[in-house]
Amino acid sequence: MPRSPIRAPKRSLDLSQHLLVFRSAPGTDQADARGPSQPAPAEIVADVPATLTSQTLFGNDRPLEVEVGSGKGLFLTREAKRNGEHNFLGVEIIHKYAKHSAARLAKAQLENAKMISGNAEPLFSDRIPAGSLEAVHVYFPDPWWKKRHRKRRVVNERSVLNFLRALREGGRLHFWTDVLDYFESTIEMIAEIAPQFGVPIPEEMSQATHDLDYRTHFERRSRKNQIPVYRVRYEKRG
Ligand SMILES: C[S@@+](CC[C@H](N)C(=O)[O-])C[C@H]1O[C@@H](n2cnc3c(N)ncnc32)[C@H](O)[C@@H]1O
Repeated sequence: MPRSPIRAPKRSLDLSQHLLVFRSAPGTDQADARGPSQPAPAEIVADVPATLTSQTLFGNDRPLEVEVGSGKGLFLTREAKRNGEHNFLGVEIIHKYAKHSAARLAKAQLENAKMISGNAEPLFSDRIPAGSLEAVHVYFPDPWWKKRHRKRRVVNERSVLNFLRALREGGRLHFWTDVLDYFESTIEMIAEIAPQFGVPIPEEMSQATHDLDYRTHFERRSRKNQIPVYRVRYEKRG
């Protein structure tokens, strides 16, 4: 299904507190054919700190939750509003989506959420300290249907081990998708390479009470089109 078009935020909106840019080394980016993932130099508001923690990002020690592939930022905005005791960081590789999500956070004047425009993979392997995260959220990652493209999936062996390392004991990994093959192969892979995640815990669908009462835009779209969604959560064991 093609994605709906996205509007650029007004130039007058100050994104300086909500948008950071992570520039991966040339040739390492996983940008796909949908458009440039890198911002123009003039659009770079602030670079990403060398170490990503609640302290370096928000100046406090609240639990930090990271969403990989935030798309239009519905989850991040709602969750940051709902849970003021936690900090939220979204990572989105397509710059215009990262900017759109940052604009939502800025408009809502949220002080506990920020977006990073960039590739989540090197951020997890190089910048997030071990045992530091409360939760990792991955909702409706791109399926990369063709077999030869599977290595581009954001949930793969390397990223699962990165998530495991980054989470604190008891920390959560949420993984939702509407692609059965992606779901089943991920469950099998996690059981094999990351038994510290224990057994997958099914997550329930909640009834939407209004049009944006879904966890993410892709959840809204799947449910409106009556496409089944597979939802699971893991909790890291000691
Ligand atoms: C299918 S969309 C789902 C968006 C959102 N999670 C939702 O459920 O509405 C997947 C998103 O992941 C982003 N993405 C893909 N690879 C990424 C990566 N390596 N780092 C950060 N974001 C990535 C894509 O650009 C896209 O916006």
